[in-house]
Amino acid sequence: MKLNLIVATASNMGIGFQGTIPWRLKKDMSLFAKLTKWTDDSNKQNAVVMGRKTWESIPQKNRPLSNRLNIVLSSAQQIENALTCKSLESALQLLQIPPYLDQIENIWIIGGASVYREAMEHSSCHRIYVTHILKDFECDVFMPSIDPAKFCLVRDCKVPEGTEEENGTSFNVKVYEKI
Ligand SMILES: NC(=O)c1ccc[n+]([C@@H]2O[C@H](COP(=O)([O-])OP(=O)(O)OC[C@H]3O[C@@H](n4cnc5c(N)ncnc54)[C@H](OP(=O)(O)O)[C@@H]3O)[C@@H](O)[C@H]2O)c1
Repeated sequence: MKLNLIVATASNMGIGFQGTIPWRLKKDMSLFAKLTKWTDDSNKQNAVVMGRKTWESIPQKNRPLSNRLNIVLSSAQQIENALTCKSLESALQLLQIPPYLDQIENIWIIGGASVYREAMEHSSCHRIYVTHILKDFECDVFMPSIDPAKFCLVRDCKVPEGTEEENGTSFNVKVYEKI
């Protein structure tokens, strides 16, 4: 199974502030739901893997994220309503064995910063879907930079091309594939 990352970054590469995302873009949230739920085989689901703070940043009424296997990384806590794993590697190993092996089609890494960093370096990393928000926001968590020597831009027909706008904020979505 290949790993895909999905993230929205401000132009200063910020992704979060005080435990939340500092912007609200409905179109981007819809794209996140569409991509992370998308499977070619309608009998399968995708897994979303996230750090404990990202899980806590999801409003209680929206978690676990629907129609996806929610896996939360935590070295210390057991998370209610999600599978908890003590490391990214143990999460990936769990997905390689039944029943998940036959049930899960794609693995989406949905944050935060250290989970993105580890996943980008992983040999199974395939793509990074980045919503580039063309504006600075005050942030205290940042996306690691994407090395142009290791990733190249590709197209995915599920992703809209060009710059979009919502509530005065412009953004575009780019897909980076590991070379
Ligand atoms: N803009 C975006 O696309 C986006 C996406 C996701 C999140 N965010 C934002 O980013 C912020 C949260 O991100 P964050 O980087 O601060 O935290 P995070 O990665 O979501 O969570 C960190 C915690 O996850 C656990 N963890 C992480 N990596 C682990 C590993 N390899 N093995 C075991 N446990 C691991 C640890 O939990 P324990 O302390 O329990 O051991 C760690 O303290 C929030 O503001 C959120 O809104 C933004």
